[in-house]
Amino acid sequence: MFAFQLLSALSSAALLVSAGPTLSSRACNTSTAVMDLPAGQTQLVSPTSAPLFVLLGVGIQNYTCSSTTSTYTSIGAVASLFDISCLEKSQFASVQTKAYTAWDSPAAGACASEIGSRVGAPKLLGFHYFVTSPSGTGISPKWDFTSTARVPTAYVIGAKTGDITAPTASATNVDWLELNGVQGALATKIFRVDTVNGQPPASCVAGSAPISVKYTAKYYLY
Ligand SMILES: *[C@@H]1O[C@H](CO)[C@@H](O)[C@H](O)[C@H]1NC(C)=O
Ligand SMILES: *[C@@H]1O[C@H](CO)[C@@H](O)[C@H](O)[C@H]1NC(C)=O
Repeated sequence: MFAFQLLSALSSAALLVSAGPTLSSRACNTSTAVMDLPAGQTQLVSPTSAPLFVLLGVGIQNYTCSSTTSTYTSIGAVASLFDISCLEKSQFASVQTKAYTAWDSPAAGACASEIGSRVGAPKLLGFHYFVTSPSGTGISPKWDFTSTARVPTAYVIGAKTGDITAPTASATNVDWLELNGVQGALATKIFRVDTVNGQPPASCVAGSAPISVKYTAKYYLY
């Protein structure tokens, strides 16, 4: 019993040495994964190191209607995170689009955590959602692998440092972001890129109920 627990603690701990070879053997080698960031902007800066994780996010963005401006304000998001480091280059490029089509299809009736297996990325590594900010005020995004890594610190909470409108269809596709990790051991930098959908309608009727808008994106964790 004890030996088993020790062994599983050791392998979980090794998983968290994300930059090392142990993690790469669990996923695929990410050393050639490069984010395709738009030229002519300085908000999002690609680190020179290889990403620790390259993920497909499938979920919803939540909004509430501001009664003063009659526009939607973000109140968080919930998404399933799939490992896409093993996808072939040709599939990798468009995986977020394919995933969105599957996610948005009412006939498919799938929940977010099932979409990965429909686009060749069945490995669910964790979840993205919002929590009370470490400062105690407001909410912050969290990427949480504790359900699969079984290590209490296998998460990261982010604070936004960069934000650009999506390079295509920015009224439909949510912004591309760069965030610094401010808590947790999973990563020190997070990028949201290659977004599909997720934007709210341009205006709302004051007093209307909160809405959820489906989206997909790639997340790169460094
Ligand atoms: C990942 O690929 C790079 C380049 O092909 C190689 O140098 C590196 O050793 C590989 N890492 C692992 C853990 O296989
Ligand atoms: C977002 O809305 C869904 C319902 O559509 C709800 O289940 C979820 O808890 C909400 N999450 C946040 C962070 O607002």
